[in-house]
Amino acid sequence: MQRLLQADELAVGEMRAYQVEGDEVRHDILVAHTEGGFRAISNRCPHDVIALDLGCLEGDVVRCSLHGSRFSLESGAPMEPPAEESVRVYPLRVKEGVVWVDLA
Ligand code: FES
Repeated sequence: MQRLLQADELAVGEMRAYQVEGDEVRHDILVAHTEGGFRAISNRCPHDVIALDLGCLEGDVVRCSLHGSRFSLESGAPMEPPAEESVRVYPLRVKEGVVWVDLA
């Protein structure tokens, strides 16, 4: 698990991008704080590789700023075209006020 942020750094309704060095690759991760808790997905829209943190958070869904596809923060699945591929979901855990993400 990789430490990402203090839980109180991100209010409900906010999202933020993080870049984390893994063993062999850098992970571009979008962390969102929703009413249901923290979620972490890849920050790259699979449709045209734009950063999803440029879009907007709508409850448990993030909308891409370029063509408007919406992605579930829970499953990573596209909920609206033109994107057809899912984004990667990173398991995360909040422990003692710190948000950790699993890069494996
Ligand atoms: S780049 Fe995200 S929907 Fe097209």
